[in-house]
Amino acid sequence: MTDMIPFIDLGAQRDRLRSRLDAAIGQVLDSGAFILGPQVRELEARLADLAKAPHGLACANGTDAIVLPLLSMGIGRGDAVFVPSFTFAASAEVVPWTRATPVFVDVDPVTYNMDPESLKAAIEMVKAEGKLRPACVIAVDLFGQMANYPAIREICDQHGMKLIADAAQAYGATLNGKSAIEWADALTISFYPAKPLGCYGDGGAVLVKDAKVRDLIKSYQVHGEGRERYEYARIGLNSRLDTLQAAILLVKLDAFAEELVLRQKAADAYQKGIGNAVKTPKLAEGATCTWAQYTVEVDDRDGFRAFLAERGVPTAVYYPIPLHMQAPYADFPVAPGGLPVTMKVCDRVVSLPMHADIRGEDQQRVIDAIQAYAAERAAA
Ligand SMILES: Cc1ncc(COP(=O)(O)O)c(C=O)c1O
Repeated sequence: MTDMIPFIDLGAQRDRLRSRLDAAIGQVLDSGAFILGPQVRELEARLADLAKAPHGLACANGTDAIVLPLLSMGIGRGDAVFVPSFTFAASAEVVPWTRATPVFVDVDPVTYNMDPESLKAAIEMVKAEGKLRPACVIAVDLFGQMANYPAIREICDQHGMKLIADAAQAYGATLNGKSAIEWADALTISFYPAKPLGCYGDGGAVLVKDAKVRDLIKSYQVHGEGRERYEYARIGLNSRLDTLQAAILLVKLDAFAEELVLRQKAADAYQKGIGNAVKTPKLAEGATCTWAQYTVEVDDRDGFRAFLAERGVPTAVYYPIPLHMQAPYADFPVAPGGLPVTMKVCDRVVSLPMHADIRGEDQQRVIDAIQAYAAERAAA
């Protein structure tokens, strides 16, 4: 059996940052300030600064990062929240937590992000039915590329709706030089270890524009605390980021800009090496990408994956089953005409090894395997 190359190599990053990470972790252990230590506030300020957001708040994970602004913006029973079906469960599961209803929207076949036309049709459908109030959009920046925020913001404004950017995979991405918070009311981040900016456990953050929403999030994330300690103004949850994770993230944030450049270089090398052998990803005009995943499309995904695996190349499928086709979500509404693009891409997408430390020789192995696959299929 051929040795597998790593799909993602957190060990290489650990080696690169070892002494700084060890020092940062040691400092927290010595300080004893495990909850809400000064590193948490420093991280929040830096995350907000980098995206030019007025306020940043760290929390326990990227899922809570979405539910906290939903709660704080008053989304609840009777509200429709529009969300893609081609995404990770977290983007949609938070909606029923608030007692609102997710309405699934189709995606664009090139960027895999929310299709503004499908969104418009879904809003009209909800309005015509008259049962729910169109209240919010959760757009997802899949694989590291921002959704079409200028178009989605315009639609939200027309209908008086809030907009949340689920940037779990895409913190650091830009469109025309701007972060999604330029258009969104809230931008949410996941620090899950495999994310482009990952910590060593669970972690998340939310950036917001409105100071009132910020204050409400601060309350919701500490059990709904009111003005006094142990006095509760609302029903909340426990969602803080550990000081240890904040200290780790501060070290990783120092290296982040450089890592994004390395990821872009790796994406360029794939694009050049793969050419037209399979369908490679495309960025919208003016977009930069964090390349959380490098995702190609193929007709015969099982055959492709087996062929690459035999040559020591691991692959992964994000996501094989759209959310609206899964049992817990099956009764929620979908945009008129169903979600044909979502259904198609779920059968075709496959992600290749991608991380900032990927070695040229490993990438060449991926490229060679894909070229060999394409040559074999062309000959068949
Ligand atoms: C698109 C998307 N949204 C939300 C999340 C949730 O983040 P977390 O796992 O940190 O809760 C993730 C990642 O896991 C994700 O990929």
